[in-house]
Amino acid sequence: MNTEKKPIIKELTIEKFSQKGKAIAFDEKKNKIIITNAVLKDVILAKLNKRKRKGVIKGEIVEILKPSEYRDEPKCIHFDICGGCTWQNIKYFYQLEQKQNFLIDAFQDFIKNTNVEIFPIVKSKNIFEYRNKMEFSFSQNRKKTKFLGLIMKGGRFVIDVQRCYLANEWFSEVLNQIKNWWEIHDFDAFNYFNGEGFLKNLTIKEGKNTQDKMVILTTSDSYTLSDIEIKDFIDHIIKAIYPSKKISIFLNTQISKKGIKTTFNLQKLYGEDNIQEDLNIDALGEKIKLKFKIGPNSFFQPNTDMAQYLYSTAINYLKKEEIKNKIALDLYSGTGTIGMILSRFVKKVIAIELSENACQMAKDNMKLNNIKNFEMINGDVSKILNTLLSDKNFEKPEIVIVDPPRSGLGDEAIENILKISPEIIIYISCNINTQLEDIKILTNLDLINPDWTNKKYQLKILHPIDQFPHTFHIENIAILKKLDFD
Ligand SMILES: C[S@@+](CC[C@H](N)C(=O)[O-])C[C@H]1O[C@@H](n2cnc3c(N)ncnc32)[C@H](O)[C@@H]1O
Repeated sequence: MNTEKKPIIKELTIEKFSQKGKAIAFDEKKNKIIITNAVLKDVILAKLNKRKRKGVIKGEIVEILKPSEYRDEPKCIHFDICGGCTWQNIKYFYQLEQKQNFLIDAFQDFIKNTNVEIFPIVKSKNIFEYRNKMEFSFSQNRKKTKFLGLIMKGGRFVIDVQRCYLANEWFSEVLNQIKNWWEIHDFDAFNYFNGEGFLKNLTIKEGKNTQDKMVILTTSDSYTLSDIEIKDFIDHIIKAIYPSKKISIFLNTQISKKGIKTTFNLQKLYGEDNIQEDLNIDALGEKIKLKFKIGPNSFFQPNTDMAQYLYSTAINYLKKEEIKNKIALDLYSGTGTIGMILSRFVKKVIAIELSENACQMAKDNMKLNNIKNFEMINGDVSKILNTLLSDKNFEKPEIVIVDPPRSGLGDEAIENILKISPEIIIYISCNINTQLEDIKILTNLDLINPDWTNKKYQLKILHPIDQFPHTFHIENIAILKKLDFD
């Protein structure tokens, strides 16, 4: 007797995308079904998992019966399994339309009840090879087969990547050369489940406008590379970028001991301490060129072309004549990019950033660009604002720019911004959900009976920018103005 149960195969039509970019269909019982690699309006035969998890059934395409008009041919051979860019099979114009719809859905209460103006999402200058930084992972299975690449779609396993079209070709050449190096030297990949093994990540960065290059190998402290192994590592990278030899190479060793906070030991193996990126900004009628040093640990917006556009657009919401004598706060400033551009137009900029390394970079960047009216403070935004606000000599800034991590601002930072009471808040975010929650509080809408006359701030503008083609991520600028300042 054949005991094997038949798989569940169903004909489905994809009805929408979830906010995380997943294709969703519903069966006759209205069960929500997520289908990997499907596109809105595809009619498919799908194989479904028998078990529902968290109210959702997962499935995969067996056959596309009627392809969606939005479907595109993925450029990448890894697309079916790689989690790097899940929307490569969707036409770019439709990716943009979806992102615009996500924003409109999220902010629908504001759209219905206020005069907020929503701009059409700005398309990315390049839709391939746009990233200036990639992080690849080392991994091994039980048979010790080696993988170096990106995390699988919806999974935790690493797939071997030969060519990644999110970044320039030399990234993949380095990746492939490091695979060759790994074949020669018998190191184990780090295993996150048992904490054993050595090789963790390979991070590659570049200055898009300078062609500067950087490679960082992150390992555990379970082994110390010999001089020969390091030389061979460097030689393989140089071979990948031939005929150029200009590159910075680092070894970043994670030091973990039970009961002691994890630290990193960063060692330069080759080249300069930093790479440089040049930004060309077109703001308030001026064309500005600024140079930024980027270190192995400092944050830089991953799509240089669109970062230039993002910063220019954000600053263009200010009025040149009105801000000359004003003070600006650049919160979550990273290496001080936005603040340094703005410093040209205002009396002074105070920047706050948690990463010590990014603060050091910012100080170097001030010197590099001969900027004098920029103060960099290292620390947590909420704590530093507490300290500043308790100083009776603190001159309250009239302009506040925030660009927090995905988790958003948090209550204490919001409370402090409200205490500062700036005329304008420019809120840049890569997570529209946390941005929305924070804006509800800033505009006094966290109440059970929201007051749409907005007692504190009014949300005036939403200006989305596509920094991440082929992913569902949206970068969004929100402009909030104090009620009396229009
Ligand atoms: C999205 S990045 C923005 C950086 C910068 N505005 C730029 O465009 O390059 C967010 C920054 O916030 C910093 N950060 C995260 N939590 C923080 C906190 N609690 N206080 C201060 N900075 C923080 C991170 O180190 C990171 O540099």
